[in-house]
Amino acid sequence: MRGRIEGKSIVLPELDPILGRILRADHVLWIACGTAYHACVYGQMVLNSLVPINSTAIPASEFRYGNYYVDKNTLCIFVSQSGETADTLAAIKRAKSSGAATIAVANVLGSSLTRIADATVYTCAGLEIAVASTKAYTAQLTLIYLLAQKLAEIMGYSTREHDEIITYLNELDRLTQETIDIAKPVIREYASMLKNEHDVYFIGRQLDYVSAMEGALKLKEISYIHADAYYAGELKHGPIALIQDQTVVIAFATQPEVASKTISNIKETVARGAKIILITDQNTPAEGFTYVIRIPEIRPDLACIISAVIFQFLAYYAASDRGCDIDKPRNLAKSVTVE
Ligand code: AGP
Repeated sequence: MRGRIEGKSIVLPELDPILGRILRADHVLWIACGTAYHACVYGQMVLNSLVPINSTAIPASEFRYGNYYVDKNTLCIFVSQSGETADTLAAIKRAKSSGAATIAVANVLGSSLTRIADATVYTCAGLEIAVASTKAYTAQLTLIYLLAQKLAEIMGYSTREHDEIITYLNELDRLTQETIDIAKPVIREYASMLKNEHDVYFIGRQLDYVSAMEGALKLKEISYIHADAYYAGELKHGPIALIQDQTVVIAFATQPEVASKTISNIKETVARGAKIILITDQNTPAEGFTYVIRIPEIRPDLACIISAVIFQFLAYYAASDRGCDIDKPRNLAKSVTVE
C-alpha cells in the first residue's frame, strides 16, 4: 500500500492510460492460475459488492480455450506473482486479440505479463523465494482490494464507507501483526492435530470461501495432506458424505451476514463426528467449539487478508511436523512457464 493512499484517497496513477476504457467496461474478468486465481475470486466478490457490473473470476487455463465473451467493452485483470505463467500469458494475448482492456497485477518488475498488459499495478511484495505463494498472496489481496475500490470510483460508484475503508487499510499492518503475535502459539498447537491426517476439509461462505480455497491449497502443496475446499452451504449436497468420526474441518466464519449459517453447517459436520478448527470474528458465538481463533475487529471485506496469515502458518507448522521441504515442495515449480 506504500504510496497508494494519500490522505483519504486511493491513488493508482498506473491506471491513467486506460481510464476511458475502464469507464466503458460493461463487464470485468479476473484471470489467473492457482493462488493468484484465488486472489481473483476475492477481486470478483469485492468488485461485485461495489458496482452493478458483472465481474467474474476464471482460471487462465480455462479462459484460454473456453467460450468466454470478450470485446472492446470488457476489462480483463490478470494476476500473476511471476508474470511468466504460460496459461496466464496465453490468456492475456487472447483477451487483447478480442479488443479487451487489460490490467496486470504482478510482482516481478518487467515480467512478460507486464509488457503485454495495457496497464500494470505491482504488488511490491519483494522477491518471493519459496514455491508456495504466501506474501505474494496477501499482497495480491491488498492490492486487488485497492484496485477494486479505485475501479468503482472511476466507474462513478463511490461508497459511503470510504473513510472507514481508509482507516482499516491504514491499520492493516498492525492488525496483521497483532494476529500473528496472538494466534501463532495457538496455531502451532492446532497444527499438531493435522500431522497424521489424510484428509482435511476447508469450508466457508462468500469471502470466507476464498480463504477456504487458498487454505486448502497451502496445506496440500506443502504438507501433502489431501485438502479440499467447499462452500459451507454446499456440504449437504454431497460432500458431507466424506465426514466421519474425527475428520478435521477447518471452517471460516468471518462474514457477519452469513456467519450464523456457516455455524449451522459446521454443526452438521460435528454431528457426524468432525473435529473443528474455527477461524471467526470477534462477535460470532462459538460455544461448544474447542479450537477457535478469533481475528481482530476488521471490515469483513478485509478479513481474508488476516485469515491468510492464520492458514499459512497452519500449513507451515503441519508441513514442518511432517518433515516436508517447505520451500521446495515435491512436483512443484515457482513459475509454471509451460502448459
Ligand atoms: C501457489 O502457492 C503456487 N505457487 C501456484 O499456485 C501459483 O500461485 C500459480 O502457479 C500462479 O503463479 P503466478 O502467480 O506466478 O502466475
